Amino acid sequence: MRTKLLWGVGAGVMILLVIAVVGTGGNSGSRGLATSEGETVAGRVVFEGTCATCHGIEGTGTEQGPPLVHQYYRPGHHADGAFTLAIRNGVQPHHWDFGPMPPQPGLSDQDIADVTAYVREIQQLAGIS
Ligand code: HEC
Repeated sequence: MRTKLLWGVGAGVMILLVIAVVGTGGNSGSRGLATSEGETVAGRVVFEGTCATCHGIEGTGTEQGPPLVHQYYRPGHHADGAFTLAIRNGVQPHHWDFGPMPPQPGLSDQDIADVTAYVREIQQLAGIS
């Protein structure tokens, strides 16, 4: 009885491992694409994991941070470099009353490029360019 149970658990773990490997394989495939689509897909993951708590899941803001899908942050007013600076150094409040944005450590240069591309994409979809 006991052995049977253990075999069952073992098989379950194997299946999970296979799913995990296949799952990551798919992700690294899309991440590896040299197209801007691959970049914005990766950027969405960074955005939802790191920025959405304050800037909102759709970039439309929360009680802790302003919308990034907003005329203030259009490319002509906040160029891509402003995103790098904000993420690396944080932001002193100057446009809103949410207080400062803390630096967001742990993001690579590629993560920053990806998340910036993603925000530009959702800005464009909202007609902000
Ligand atoms: C803890 C909350 C918080 C998190 C997390 C956060 N932000 Fe912010 N962010 C803010 C606040 C608040 C401001 C507005 C400051 C002001 O009043 O101008 C801001 C401003 C910005 C600005 C404008 C910078 C400028 O020069 O005015 C950019 C760009 C930005 N955030 C991008 C991001 C990105 C990208 C992420 C994720 C990697 C992120 N933020 C994560 C709170 C946050």
